[in-house]
Amino acid sequence: MSHKGDTLHLPAVAVEAASGSIARPGRPTMGRRKSVIPQGVDIIVTIDGPAGTGKSTVAQSLAERLGLDLLDTGAMYRAAAAIAIDQGLIDGVRAEDPATTARFVQIVADADLHFDWMADPPAIMAMSKATGRYEPLNERIRTPDVTKAVSAVARVVELRRHMVRKQRLIGQQHPRLVTEGRDQGSVVFPDALVKFYLDADLRVRAERRADQLREAGYPAQADELMAELARRDEADRTREEGPLVCPQDAITVDTTRLNFDQVVDRLERDVLDRVGVA
Ligand code: DC
Repeated sequence: MSHKGDTLHLPAVAVEAASGSIARPGRPTMGRRKSVIPQGVDIIVTIDGPAGTGKSTVAQSLAERLGLDLLDTGAMYRAAAAIAIDQGLIDGVRAEDPATTARFVQIVADADLHFDWMADPPAIMAMSKATGRYEPLNERIRTPDVTKAVSAVARVVELRRHMVRKQRLIGQQHPRLVTEGRDQGSVVFPDALVKFYLDADLRVRAERRADQLREAGYPAQADELMAELARRDEADRTREEGPLVCPQDAITVDTTRLNFDQVVDRLERDVLDRVGVA
């Protein structure tokens, strides 16, 4: 994410990485960071909100500043979407065919999605039937077909329940965590110490996305992206299981008129206040 300008600019990475993690070389390995939060203090920070609010890059920077681990739950849904496509199941999943959906969830469970925490940011890994080894899916999950398919996949109730279980396990293994997604404060970690909900005007989110696409060399029109984002918002907000909602006890941050540093500064201050670190 660029720190320049007066709005929240996202970095010029792969087109579909608007809400993905961006590798920053030269940073210390996750889980071994020096932290301003005293050792022994467990702290889960959740960041939820719609696409285009800069959640992923903000979460990454906040985790880095605070010396906490980072969980990108969108990467898990994207990995499931990649599996649905690669196994030829996506049409059945889209059509909500019960037999296909059950098979799909079983295949995802067998793939044993997890993160390689030694990578920075952590790499999403899945067991490949072809190689019999765990393979990283980081690049695959940012491809346009995955981005197109992921909303339908994220509606699958049994898949969501599977992901919630996995994410809670990750929370147990990494109890000093910044986690971002759509349902982290509302469903997965209702007892999180600090919950944020990032939001921004639809037009501003679309403009950020358009800037990002253009920086990556793709033609993009904010007007068209507004319609696409509005469709994704609707899909995220209306699904039966784990819809995007602002948890009652969340701190809402409207990033419409804030730049990247202002957003991260604000979140960092709120977390440090909450744990009583001056
Ligand atoms: O944040 P993202 O664009 O990488 O998320 C990809 C998709 O997964 C998006 O459609 C929202 C969905 N998602 C979800 O339903 N629940 C989460 N906790 C994270 C992402």
